[in-house]
Amino acid sequence: MTVTYDRKTEIAGQLRHVDKWYGQHQVLQDVSLAIGSGEIIALVGRSGSGKSTVLRVLAGLSDDHSGERLVAGAPALAFQEPRLFPWRTVRTNVGYGLTRFRLPRGEVASRADQALADVGLADRADAWPLTLSGGQAQRVSLARALVAEPQLLLLDEPFGALDALTRLSMHGLLLELWHRHGFGVLLVTHDVNEAVALADRVLVLDGGRVVHQTEISDPRRPTGSPSPQTDQHRAELLAQLGVQI
Ligand SMILES: Nc1ncnc2c1ncn2[C@@H]1O[C@H](COP(=O)(O)OP(=O)(O)OP(=O)(O)O)[C@@H](O)[C@H]1O
Ligand SMILES: [Mg+2]
Repeated sequence: MTVTYDRKTEIAGQLRHVDKWYGQHQVLQDVSLAIGSGEIIALVGRSGSGKSTVLRVLAGLSDDHSGERLVAGAPALAFQEPRLFPWRTVRTNVGYGLTRFRLPRGEVASRADQALADVGLADRADAWPLTLSGGQAQRVSLARALVAEPQLLLLDEPFGALDALTRLSMHGLLLELWHRHGFGVLLVTHDVNEAVALADRVLVLDGGRVVHQTEISDPRRPTGSPSPQTDQHRAELLAQLGVQI
């Protein structure tokens, strides 16, 4: 069952007791989670644990699960690879995020330009995707996700393919956009450091179940000022993932 809220609510997105099977293989088992309005939740887990499947269910891309899905408005999605249309300009790619609103073309272009300005790419609106760097393409993908002002942003390893410096600057950009717009975020990541640096809460998925939750005691502490709690959170999560340090 799906319930969609159109108004601003306390909850940006929620799953209740969701099970999902691929044939004989159960990939999600009784998954319940909630992303509060304006909250950043990170979802970590080993490869194949079901992270992308959780995201797909929340995004409304799965219709054969049981349990409940509740979302505020239409969630926006961005993936590890930017998935831009190479035959469309950057502006038109971003405008694609507004398709369902059937707005006049001029309105679409001006909103797309605003979203591109938000991610620092106002000057690349007329460029072709293939002429962008990996980091720039990922910014365009973020602009396309955010152009419709979603209340829930679903990110599937969005920074995984970027080099370390670009990844850090994307963290800064995500937080800046989040401060400005206040959407809720579900961030799927393999990177425990990224999860601890960005999230309010980190959930661990194992074999399709949520097996652990770490509440970050001092979320989004500036980088360069590590705290004993940060190390503790990281160690706790790595232990949950079966990594000994
Ligand atoms: N379309 C599909 N058909 C059949 N099985 C699938 C399909 N998509 C995913 N699965 C299976 O569901 C399980 C969970 O996959 P999922 O992609 O959600 O994992 P993940 O945690 O995102 O992994 P990764 O970290 O590698 O991206 C895996 O066992 C996978 O093989
Ligand atoms: Mg995945």
